Amino acid sequence: MSKKRVLIVFGTRPEAIKMAPLVKEFQKHKEEFETKVCITAQHREMLDQVLAFFEIAPDFDLDLMKPNQNLYGLTADIITNLKPVLENFNPDFVFVHGDTTTTMATSIAAFYAGAKICHVEAGLRTFNMQSPFPEEMNRSVTGVVTNLHFAPTVTSKENLITENKSQQNILVTGNTVIDALFFSVNKVSENGYKDSEIDGLLSLIDDSKKLILVTGHRRENHGQGFINICEALKEIALQHPECQIVYPVHLNPNVQKPVYELLSDITNIKLISPLSYPSFVWLMEKSHIIITDSGGVQEEAPSLGKPVLVMRDTTERPEAVDVGTVRLVGTDKQKIVDEANRLLNNEKAYLEMSQLHNPYGDGKACERIVNFIKNL
Ligand code: UD1
Ligand code: UDP
Repeated sequence: MSKKRVLIVFGTRPEAIKMAPLVKEFQKHKEEFETKVCITAQHREMLDQVLAFFEIAPDFDLDLMKPNQNLYGLTADIITNLKPVLENFNPDFVFVHGDTTTTMATSIAAFYAGAKICHVEAGLRTFNMQSPFPEEMNRSVTGVVTNLHFAPTVTSKENLITENKSQQNILVTGNTVIDALFFSVNKVSENGYKDSEIDGLLSLIDDSKKLILVTGHRRENHGQGFINICEALKEIALQHPECQIVYPVHLNPNVQKPVYELLSDITNIKLISPLSYPSFVWLMEKSHIIITDSGGVQEEAPSLGKPVLVMRDTTERPEAVDVGTVRLVGTDKQKIVDEANRLLNNEKAYLEMSQLHNPYGDGKACERIVNFIKNL
């Protein structure tokens, strides 16, 4: 029997983190599958960090990132540059992940190529096309052309059913980010594991202070949103000298500029470069509170029992809010400061938000996905 040809495509840091364990799982089944990895490199440095940690060597690298790229050019470049890859490899299945421009453009290209489209992390919705922008559109369009939907939770499956997707084409798997998280925690705890970045963090962090970890990048927060966020962080740092804020700053120039301009000279705020995945997980484990607008961090934090203030007005991840780990605080300066104060000054409020929960799975999502494709 001929092998099924599988092409796994991703382009940004979070897609890479969440697809890496799937690549590894497919690679365990070499008799059944010919698996190839294509990166669009919508991200470059932040993607390469992930590939290095998970030891993945892509078969195709479209190398598309441009400084301060725009959605029009990126979308067009991805579709055009995938054509020869799809025509030459002729995959039976194309796997995409989540809600980035890479996800949406790849699913359209794979549709043109006649491959079966498999969407990992399918069915997340806010039902607001403007928030997150353009991700709600990206995942909705991807959902339209997808043949097999791998939904992380029952809620995401229900969203797909509401959109009349056929029940038999949906599998609830858990989120592959938990597979990645467990892989990372295990690798870092192995005897003999050495990481110079973690050594650097050890000398940066003041262990006598409570650590507040911050990340942010959402497009709808660019401009005034980021100015508010920075002013809130400054206020928190000044009101709480017993805390230290550590902020690995996303490489998007729309983020770098306001953050470095507004927060560089505050002694208990440390601005650093984006961290490799294991270092970031290590830092999450060390942190007291996380303040972020990231999707992936909202999913990882419940499994680490870390309270998260989410600087967004909507979330497609209601499970983390329901279990009590995540609170939406938007980008209003005062609201961010008030909610941080509530956690820093009120032990009961802190304890309520810092319980361990696993709403996003058990770390076996990739095994379920590969078994499903094997049994087709
Ligand atoms: C993208 C995704 C977003 C995802 C986020 C994860 C889209 C439209 N946006 O947003 O859904 O949540 O990634 O981080 O798909 N840059 C670098 N080096 C890097 C990465 C980015 O220099 O390794 C800079 C470049 O100037 C690049 C810019 O950041 O042009 C923007 O990158 P882009 O992928 O378009 O947007 P993100 O804000 O990263
Ligand atoms: N992350 C990382 N290094 C960092 C910051 C975040 O490895 O310096 C990881 C984080 O653990 C999560 C993912 O990157 O798995 C989230 O990426 P991002 O916030 O860029 O995108 P989103 O999840 O919002 O799409």
